[in-house]
Amino acid sequence: METLLLDSNTWLLVLTGAGVSAESGVPTFRGMNGLWEDQPVTEVASPQGFAKDPLRVWRFYSQRRAGAADVSPNPGHDALVAWERHLGDRFLLATQNVDGLHRRAGSQRVVEMHGNLFTSRCSNPDCTRAPFPDTTVYASGTVPGCKECGALLRPHIVWFGEHLDPDDLTRIESFAVKAVRSGGRLVFLAAGTSGAVYPAAGMVDNVRAAGGETWLVNLDASENASSFEHFVQGKSGEVLPKLGRLV
Ligand code: OAD
Repeated sequence: METLLLDSNTWLLVLTGAGVSAESGVPTFRGMNGLWEDQPVTEVASPQGFAKDPLRVWRFYSQRRAGAADVSPNPGHDALVAWERHLGDRFLLATQNVDGLHRRAGSQRVVEMHGNLFTSRCSNPDCTRAPFPDTTVYASGTVPGCKECGALLRPHIVWFGEHLDPDDLTRIESFAVKAVRSGGRLVFLAAGTSGAVYPAAGMVDNVRAAGGETWLVNLDASENASSFEHFVQGKSGEVLPKLGRLV
């Protein structure tokens, strides 16, 4: 198997997707038994779906909260923690996962691009209440309300048709810019993601355009696999612990 050299000149930007949590028992979105297989995305993960049937949306996210609370990080998460400890500020983890497992494993430099399953916020854009931690699994038949303005609460998740937080995108871009400006070796590694959802799926092209090196660790050839220079096929929990050569 190829190895990825992580030395004092390396700046590593990692992108993870649902596949990284699969070995922890969290279902992925696409493919066999994927969450979107029997759950229309537009009904449970869009502002329109929420406006139409907030109960259904909360039932879906409450089930996911219950499922994600019971699982633990796997060796793939742990490998990323070890890489971050080795590289320090020359490491950044951008994740599309909302399950919180990277932080639970010990990752600190994390950008949760698609939000967090255990955070809720008021659905009223004019309400001043900030997003807040919320582990509640709402009983079916309950749609929680905001205690400040009375509007419905919603999960703090980026739904289809919504924009990512511009601060998150800036943090990722700045990391790559800093790596290039410092004359370092910029490496981008994507793991456990189908490359189907933008802007995350476009990160590989941006890094290549900036002169960076690109790696993919995935069970199957993802939709954008041909954009990567290195493809290590396999389970992230098995590949990542063996991939990094820390010097
Ligand atoms: P997907 O379900 O689309 O893709 C998961 C990928 O992980 C697939 O390519 C699998 O082959 C791969 N995979 C499965 N098990 C693996 C393992 N043990 N090790 C390595 N790879 C494995 O999930 P994402 O790409 O994360 O958005 O999906 C992107 C976004 O689409 C999600 O964040 C979500 C979804 O709609 C929102 O909810 C906003």
